[in-house]
Amino acid sequence: MTCWAMTRVPIREGVSKSRSHQVRGHINLHLADPASNAGKESNIQYRDGCARSCVDHFWRIPLGAGLTILPEHGFNCWNDAMNTEPRPSYSPGLEGVIAGETSICWVDPNAGLLYRGYDIHELASQVGYEEVAWLLLHGELPTEEECSSFSRQLAEQRPLPRQVIETLRQFPKGTHPMDMLRTGISMLAVFDPDLNDHSRAANLRKATRLIAQDSTLVTSAWRIAHGRELPPVRPDLTHAANFLYSLTGEPPEDWRTEILDRILVLYADHEFNASTFSARVTASTLADMYAAVTTGLGTLKGPLHGGANEETMKMLREIGSPDRSESWVKQRLARKEKIMGFGHRVYKKGDSRVPMMRELARELGRRFGQNHWAPICEGLEAVMEREKKLCANVDLYAAPVFYLLGLPSELNTPLFACSRISGWCAHIIEQHDHNRLIRPRSLYTGPARRAFPTGNWKKPRPTNTAS
Ligand code: COA
Repeated sequence: MTCWAMTRVPIREGVSKSRSHQVRGHINLHLADPASNAGKESNIQYRDGCARSCVDHFWRIPLGAGLTILPEHGFNCWNDAMNTEPRPSYSPGLEGVIAGETSICWVDPNAGLLYRGYDIHELASQVGYEEVAWLLLHGELPTEEECSSFSRQLAEQRPLPRQVIETLRQFPKGTHPMDMLRTGISMLAVFDPDLNDHSRAANLRKATRLIAQDSTLVTSAWRIAHGRELPPVRPDLTHAANFLYSLTGEPPEDWRTEILDRILVLYADHEFNASTFSARVTASTLADMYAAVTTGLGTLKGPLHGGANEETMKMLREIGSPDRSESWVKQRLARKEKIMGFGHRVYKKGDSRVPMMRELARELGRRFGQNHWAPICEGLEAVMEREKKLCANVDLYAAPVFYLLGLPSELNTPLFACSRISGWCAHIIEQHDHNRLIRPRSLYTGPARRAFPTGNWKKPRPTNTAS
């Protein structure tokens, strides 16, 4: 019998992993014949990318018949006694895997971010969130007439059903706004007459309701949690202006609305990011749009994704002044901690949204005489580049921008969701329009097939306690 063992390349002592993910080093394998208990040691030099015997991050080792690898050091073992499939290919975290097609958004690691072919910088400086939401949903920028009709529909759909408002009032004190939002969106599903109609027209109607009501949920939940009444509706306000008005109860200044509009444009989509991908997985089972958006919201909450912008603000407050950036970050790196607002799965030369967000942070700092936030971030950027060769991502500068706009940092991630909802809906529609179930495989790392233990095993039987 040809017996192959496949062991995942361990990234640890004696092994170096360069930025290009080339792995070099050596491993000791302990091979054993379970019948005779005879064992032998094998020391293997390896280099990632070696075509002959290294597949992805796996090393293929021919074993003699009857020999098995002892799964020490967490090595994953694979042999054809356990599996008849030719060769598994595996990328931890799905890194670099093309998991589907989309015509909505292109994240080019070198050239930036395009929505339906348009550069986000041009979009952010030329149009508002309504135009971008329409673009993502329909594929083209709206005409003037389409845009005003869409804005009108958004305004009409903003009010929440009474039962949803009542539910928001039931949450325990201290409930995180993301949890209120996720629950609220899930609840809104049952009030939507189009819930189980996945036709394109019905999906577009649901998307409009979701974009409008997601924003109302965030602002209403915040006001209710802080004992404030909901302000009267203002259908004349744009999506961005309405968000600020519904939150504060005051019509916002134009400059504030313009900045929020730009932020909403920058966050609106990012191809197969974790929350969009998870929303598409849900949509691929032909579950409804609300179920998929609820999935997306659950995924967005995590600090490695959308939750990073709230965590970043905590970090910036803790650092407090630019002269503390270097020592603060070095201490955290020495403890192998992740620094929020840095790193990205796709961008390796820099997040294309950072320059605009950095500029907004500087502009708002000057406006409010709070000139320390951007320099703290810049200090962090310098150290992270020098020490880890890692670039800032959009959340680093988004945190002080939201703060300077007067938004509570618990709303950073919900605000992200108020923007990304248009991207999620566009992806869900695309998924429903060209659906194939998303169902990957896993690499089994548990025990090989083994005999069930002999002994006095008895299946527990239900006891009837009724007299
Ligand atoms: N701080 C410190 N080190 C970081 C880091 C960060 N923010 N991001 C990545 N790294 C390091 C890892 O520790 C790892 O180092 P190692 O090879 O020495 O172990 C290496 O860079 C690769 O990191 P990894 O977590 O495998 O990269 P990824 O592609 O899986 O993760 C993120 C991408 C975004 C999850 C990651 O960069 C991160 O956690 N960032 C902080 C959270 C954040 O800002 N998220 C918002 C993203 S828009």
